[in-house]
Amino acid sequence: MSIRETFRGAVVCAALILGAGIAHAQEVVKLGLVGEFSGPFAQYGGQMYGGMKAYMKEHGDTVAGKKIEVIQRDTGGPAPDVAKRLAQELVTRDKVDLLVGFGLTPNAMAAAPIATEAKVPMIIMNAATSIITTKSPYIARVSFTLPQITQPIALWAAKNGIRNVYTIVSDYGPGIDAEGAFTKAFKTAGGEIAGSARIPLQNPEFAPYIQRAKDARPQAIFVFLPAGEQGIAFMKGYNERGLAEAGIKLIATGDITDDGVLEAMGDPTLGLVTSFHYSAAHDSPENKAFLKAYAEANGTKLRPNFMAVAGYDGMAAIYEALRKTGGSTDGDKIMAALKGMKINSPRGAITIDPETRDVVQTIYIRKVEKTPGGLYNIEFDRFPDQKDPGK
Ligand code: DHB
Repeated sequence: MSIRETFRGAVVCAALILGAGIAHAQEVVKLGLVGEFSGPFAQYGGQMYGGMKAYMKEHGDTVAGKKIEVIQRDTGGPAPDVAKRLAQELVTRDKVDLLVGFGLTPNAMAAAPIATEAKVPMIIMNAATSIITTKSPYIARVSFTLPQITQPIALWAAKNGIRNVYTIVSDYGPGIDAEGAFTKAFKTAGGEIAGSARIPLQNPEFAPYIQRAKDARPQAIFVFLPAGEQGIAFMKGYNERGLAEAGIKLIATGDITDDGVLEAMGDPTLGLVTSFHYSAAHDSPENKAFLKAYAEANGTKLRPNFMAVAGYDGMAAIYEALRKTGGSTDGDKIMAALKGMKINSPRGAITIDPETRDVVQTIYIRKVEKTPGGLYNIEFDRFPDQKDPGK
């Protein structure tokens, strides 16, 4: 063999190795999961990732010839600077193809410019302030918006003899959205607002706010608080201060009767009416399959909630988008595939609005009831095809 032939052979060999390397790199689609995995909001990340794992358990980790890999990052709570840095590092250093997750609004808002600059699609699996999807053309949301879930409970209350309501919300994006949507819809339906309060997101003290609401003697209190521990503390205060005995009803968005903490809140929640897009008690074959896959992937310690369903649906959307693009992760192609997509979610059918990239879905009115399996939000009325009313 001449030197030239040997050299040519070596070049061919190197090219093959290199080619194999590239082919291998192209076979992986990386998802950068930015979520809350520690601190008081740790269940948000846990639920979202649990839902993603359930989807992958049921459908495998390969789609359109590509293997799906999840890279998990913890913001530690509401920490916009951290969320932005993590998103930036995931895009530039880890070379993720999509950003996913985002439980809390401030974290989603902070990461939006990264999605725009890098043309990397960002799938919102919870954060629910209306404005988020307008912050980048690369954002699509599979969860919900506060105005979308709040308007139905305002209309339901007005229709069911409630005339005078005091509003209590968490003092940041989703709370302000909930207060605005409730006030607008309830007043339009002929109701009156007796007063309103906004409570800090971090380390809230509920007792003084609950007392003030009681002193205003409304017929009902409407409340929005971020799901999880805060709902438990609020219900405790509501009971201790004797609001039910004073004849003051409670109505709320379903965040407060979050399936992940409903058992811990116990019997004081019985009869509580809320509006929401998902209940673990939703009666459908899709929900049964989801509950089964969730338990198989994560065990049965934690009941999956709306964030778990959004994680599951987010993966369904990504798998379907990759099938449509033939495995391409080009940001513009993925976004085009997501626009108008329909998904048979465990909550019922959902659509990603092609104009707003926000989710269109049925909102249910539910009541907490005791079932043989424990406390559940039982759906008894529905508002189909709900868009974010502000858009
Ligand atoms: C957020 C919204 C919610 O409805 C919730 O329960 C928790 C967090 C948010 O957008 O930050």
